[in-house]
Amino acid sequence: MILLSRLIVLGLAGGHSAWASPVTHESQATTTAEVSHSYSSFSYTQVTSTRYATGLSAPLSFATPFAPALRQASTLLPSNVTYTTYSLQSSPTPDGQYGQSAYAALWANLSCTDAPPFTTTITPSAVPSSELVYPPNLYNLVDNATLKLPPDFIWGVAASAWQIEGGLQLDGRGPSVLDTIGAIQSNDNASDANIADMGYFMYKEDIARLAAIGVPHLSFSISWPRIVPFGAAGSPINTPGLQHYDDVINTCLEYGITPIVTLNHGDFPINQASDTSTLPENFLYFAKQVMARYADRVPYWVTFNEANIGVGEVFTSWNDLTNVLTAHAAFANNLAVPLNPSNASHVDAALRYQDFILGIMGNPLFLGQQYPTSALDTPNLNLTALTETQIFDVHGTIDFWAFDPYVAQFASPPPVGISACAANQSNPTWPYCASTSMIQADGWLMGDMSNVYSSIAPQYVRQQLGYVWNTFRPRAILICEFGFNPFADSLGAGDAQRLDLERTLYYQDFLQEVLKAIHEDGVNVIGALAWSYLDNNEFGSYANHYRRRYKRSLFEYVGFFHDHIQN
Ligand SMILES: *[C@@H]1O[C@H](CO)[C@@H](O)[C@H](O)[C@H]1NC(C)=O
Ligand SMILES: *[C@@H]1O[C@H](CO)[C@@H](O)[C@H](O)[C@H]1NC(C)=O
Ligand SMILES: *[C@@H]1O[C@H](CO)[C@@H](O)[C@H](O)[C@H]1NC(C)=O
Ligand SMILES: *[C@@H]1O[C@H](CO)[C@@H](O)[C@H](O)[C@H]1NC(C)=O
Ligand SMILES: *[C@@H]1O[C@H](CO)[C@@H](O)[C@H](O)[C@H]1NC(C)=O
Ligand SMILES: *[C@@H]1O[C@H](CO)[C@@H](O)[C@H](O)[C@H]1NC(C)=O
Ligand SMILES: *[C@@H]1O[C@H](CO)[C@@H](O)[C@H](O)[C@H]1NC(C)=O
Repeated sequence: MILLSRLIVLGLAGGHSAWASPVTHESQATTTAEVSHSYSSFSYTQVTSTRYATGLSAPLSFATPFAPALRQASTLLPSNVTYTTYSLQSSPTPDGQYGQSAYAALWANLSCTDAPPFTTTITPSAVPSSELVYPPNLYNLVDNATLKLPPDFIWGVAASAWQIEGGLQLDGRGPSVLDTIGAIQSNDNASDANIADMGYFMYKEDIARLAAIGVPHLSFSISWPRIVPFGAAGSPINTPGLQHYDDVINTCLEYGITPIVTLNHGDFPINQASDTSTLPENFLYFAKQVMARYADRVPYWVTFNEANIGVGEVFTSWNDLTNVLTAHAAFANNLAVPLNPSNASHVDAALRYQDFILGIMGNPLFLGQQYPTSALDTPNLNLTALTETQIFDVHGTIDFWAFDPYVAQFASPPPVGISACAANQSNPTWPYCASTSMIQADGWLMGDMSNVYSSIAPQYVRQQLGYVWNTFRPRAILICEFGFNPFADSLGAGDAQRLDLERTLYYQDFLQEVLKAIHEDGVNVIGALAWSYLDNNEFGSYANHYRRRYKRSLFEYVGFFHDHIQN
C-alpha cells in the first residue's frame, strides 16, 4: 500500500522531484534501463485459444498381427481347461474343489460396503468440442524444440485394473490380495475399491475420451483373478473375464488406440497371499490364457508391476522375489542419489539402496549375475542365492527395462552406520539401511512436493535413467509410469483442479529431461506413459487426485508430443 501511493506521487511529481532520493530503487531503475517508453491508443486483444485438440484417426489396424490368432495359438493352451463363471450364491450342496460353493467361500471374509451405481457397460457419449479447447498458453517453460523424438516413440497414459475397475464381485471375479484394502475398510468413505472409477463399466467412455484428445497408447492391466478366480493352475477360467478384456482391447483399436498390457499390477489372486512357491506355474497358466487370446492385437506386454518394492506389501519374504523372477519380471522404481556425492558413505548408502530396489531384479535378468552381495550378506534377509541354472534361465528373457521413475530421493547412512544397521533387523531402515529424504544437504527441498511421493525435480531425471542404462545395460527403457498428484488437490474448486499447473509443469519438465537423456546421454528411451488418466484408488485413498476429466496437464502433455515427434 505504502509503496503504491509513493509511486503514484512520484508519477505525478516527475522523476526528478524531491521524492527521488528516498525511493532509490525505483529511480535507479528508471535512469539505467535502456527502454524507450511510448504511448499509443489502447485496444483489447483476444488472448484465449481457439486451438482444439485433434482426435486420433480410427479404427487402428496392424498390417500383420503381433502374434498368431487364437485359432493357431490355442494349441499352446492345456486341452482340459474348464471355462465357466460363478455367482456369489452358494450351491445348496457341496459341489467340488472349484464348484459354486467353493467360489462363494473365497469371499467369506470379504464384503463390500458399497455397490457400483450400475452393472452394465456404459455406451460412450460423443465428446463435445467445447471440452477440447486448449487451455491458456504456458509462459513458464523454455522449450527446446530442436530435440526430437522418433516417429515410433510410445507415448500415452496408464492405469491398473484394481485401481480403476470396481465391480470386484461381479461376473465371476475371484478375490485378490488387494481387496482387503478399500473393499471392506474405507479410510475416507470414498475409497471403496468395489466402486473405484467404475472402469469395469466405463472403459468405452474412457477410451473414447482419450482418443478424442489424441492419446495414442493406453496401458492397462488385466485382473488375474477375473480370469482365474481361484488363482491356481488347472482351476477354471472365468469366461466373462476373458470377454471383458477382449472387448477393452477391441474398443482401443476401434478408437485408434494401441493397447499396452500389464499382466499383474499387485492384484494377485488370494491364493498367492501366503505362498508364492506356486506362483511361477500359476502365473504361466494365467498368462497363457490371455496372451494366446490377445497377443495378436497387443504389441507390448509387461509382466509384473513394481514387484521389487512388494516385500512387506504383497510379499512376506525376500525369497518371494525369486518366485516372481522365475515367473518373469522386472519393474523398478525411484532411484536414490547420494545426499552428498563426495562423501563415500553416502555413495555406499545410495548404491546399497539401489542393490535392493533394482539389483535384485536387474542383476539376473539383464546381466546374468547373482543377486547383489550386499543383499545376500544381510543376516536374516531370507534371500537365497540363485543357482546357476536359475540365472541362466532368466537372463535376457526381457526386451526392455520397464521403469517407473516418478522422482529421485537422497540417500545417506542411517545414524548407526550401514553395517550396524544391516546386522540389526530392528533398525527402522533395515534391510536397505539407507536414510532417504527429499531434502538436499543445504536444507532445500529438491523440488515442489506433491500430496504424496512425487516431486517436481527434473534435475534428477537424467541420473535416474542414466543409472539404469549404464548399470544394467538394457536394450531399451520404457517409462511405464511417471506422474504428480498436487498437494491437497481434492480440496480445490473444480476449475482450479482443471487448470492443474503443477502437474503440467511436472510433465513438461520431466519430458524435456528425457529428450536430453536421449540426445545428450545416449539412453534409448522408447516411450513414456503418464500415470494416471483417472483419479484412481491409490491403495486406500482417492485423495491423490487423478480425475476423470480433461485437465490442462493432458492438453500440454499431448501438445508436447505433437511438437517433438518427428513426422
Ligand atoms: C489337465 O491336464 C494336465 C496335464 O495333462 C494335468 O496335470 C491336470 O491335472 C489336468 N487337469 C484337469 C482339471 O483335469
Ligand atoms: C476366513 O477366516 C477364517 C477365520 O480367520 C479362516 O479360517 C478362513 O480360512 C478364512 N477364509 C478364507 C477364504 O480366507
Ligand atoms: C537445446 O539443445 C541443444 C542441443 O542438445 C543444446 O545445445 C542447448 O543447450 C539446448 N537448449 C536449452 C535451452 O536447453
Ligand atoms: C464415514 O462415514 C461414517 C458413516 O456415515 C461416518 O460416521 C464417518 O464419520 C465418516 N468418516 C469420514 C472420515 O468421513
Ligand atoms: C524364508 O524363505 C523360505 C523359502 O521361500 C520360506 O519357506 C520361509 O518361510 C521364509 N522365512 C521367513 C522368516 O520369511
Ligand atoms: C560423511 O557422512 C557421514 C554420515 O552422514 C558423516 O558422519 C561424516 O562426517 C561425513 N564425512 C565427511 C567427510 O563429510
Ligand atoms: C537394534 O535396533 C533397535 C531399533 O533401532 C534398537 O533399539 C536396538 O538397540 C538395536 N540393537 C542393537 C544390538 O544395536
